[in-house]
Amino acid sequence: MNKLGIYIHIPFCVKKCNYCAFLSFKMNDDLKRRYIDALKLEIKERADSKYLVDTIFFGGGTPSLLKPSEIAEILNEITGNFNISKDVEITMEANPDTLNEKNLKGYRNAGINRLSMGVQSLDESLLSVMGRIHNADDVYREYALAREAGFDNINLDIIFAVPASSLETTMDTLEKIIKLNPEHISYYSLQLEEGTSFFKDFKDGKLDEIPDDIDRDMYHRGSNLLQKNNYSRYEISNFSKKGYECKHNLKYWNMDEYLGLGLGSSSYIGGVRLKNTDDINEYINNKYISERHKNTRYDDISEAVFTGLRKAEGVSMKEILGSKEEFWEYYKDSKEEIDSFISEGYLLIKDDRLILTDKGIDISNKIMVCFV
Ligand SMILES: C[S@@+](CC[C@H](N)C(=O)[O-])C[C@H]1O[C@@H](n2cnc3c(N)ncnc32)[C@H](O)[C@@H]1O
Ligand code: SF4
Repeated sequence: MNKLGIYIHIPFCVKKCNYCAFLSFKMNDDLKRRYIDALKLEIKERADSKYLVDTIFFGGGTPSLLKPSEIAEILNEITGNFNISKDVEITMEANPDTLNEKNLKGYRNAGINRLSMGVQSLDESLLSVMGRIHNADDVYREYALAREAGFDNINLDIIFAVPASSLETTMDTLEKIIKLNPEHISYYSLQLEEGTSFFKDFKDGKLDEIPDDIDRDMYHRGSNLLQKNNYSRYEISNFSKKGYECKHNLKYWNMDEYLGLGLGSSSYIGGVRLKNTDDINEYINNKYISERHKNTRYDDISEAVFTGLRKAEGVSMKEILGSKEEFWEYYKDSKEEIDSFISEGYLLIKDDRLILTDKGIDISNKIMVCFV
């Protein structure tokens, strides 16, 4: 049976953070009910018995704005309509402000077995710059309560290169996070996204961007610190203890099949990329899919290299094009440029794998262009 990952988008947040462009808005009880009902209908309609679901990911937005009974209701709909693997990984993203002893136990009992908490920083002034609704103590308290509730697979998200941050504040947060000993740490460089409050403030000259060389210094020092503490870097921004890589997110980088359900979600299934509507009114009136694109062989190859190069193990030329020779024949027009990246130490070849070096990560976008 083909394996499948399911992504469920929960588009609600208490308040928009200053840097975030994810599809989310304020919730009210009526809208939440109608959204869950539409989601359940979409699950039924898009169910496919030829798949075995081995990962489920509640992302957002803030899925922890749903009650445990509502998460259980959605999970029941999935288990009632899909074949589910016995060792299914079920992740839920959570904002520390929305967690408490009771709902953490409830989520665990509902079947969530991996918790991903947005921490971003443990520096109070940076949390406030980012517009976060929690403080550092909330993170410590909810993390401890999550352990008590039985979560033995926890990810903490950190963002670095935030305006007004320094190498010192960044390393301090990372050291504190490492002390908490989560199984997984995501360490993201701040992306300046159009439509966010940060974007407007940068444009108006009210905020200064962290210079690129400092951003890169923060990344490499952070990455080294994490690796020294047994967090292996398996993807550019993702670090985990052995055996705790996020199985769901690996599907994106491996071009495995996944079904995205809910507002604005994306799917890659049966060689087709699908995009759901971003319009909440359309969605709650049960019009789900807005874009459909059948991938060509060319799309599949460039996407496999493009996404696969994000992984620390890189990409297998044989898996993508049958053999090393066929790979270079396919990329003969960019071969010269690729060779110069290899000779300058940005890319390396190990057996039949093409891998970005530490230096290569800093210019990954430039390198990836050669493979599109
Ligand atoms: C859906 S949120 C996580 C759960 C919850 N909404 C929260 O923020 O606590 C996903 C993660 O994406 C990261 N993120 C969001 N916007 C980002 C940006 N502009 N640059 C870098 N990372 C970003 C944050 O680390 C965030 O925790
Ligand atoms: S970072 Fe999380 S809490 Fe903040 S706006 Fe984005 S999705 Fe919502």
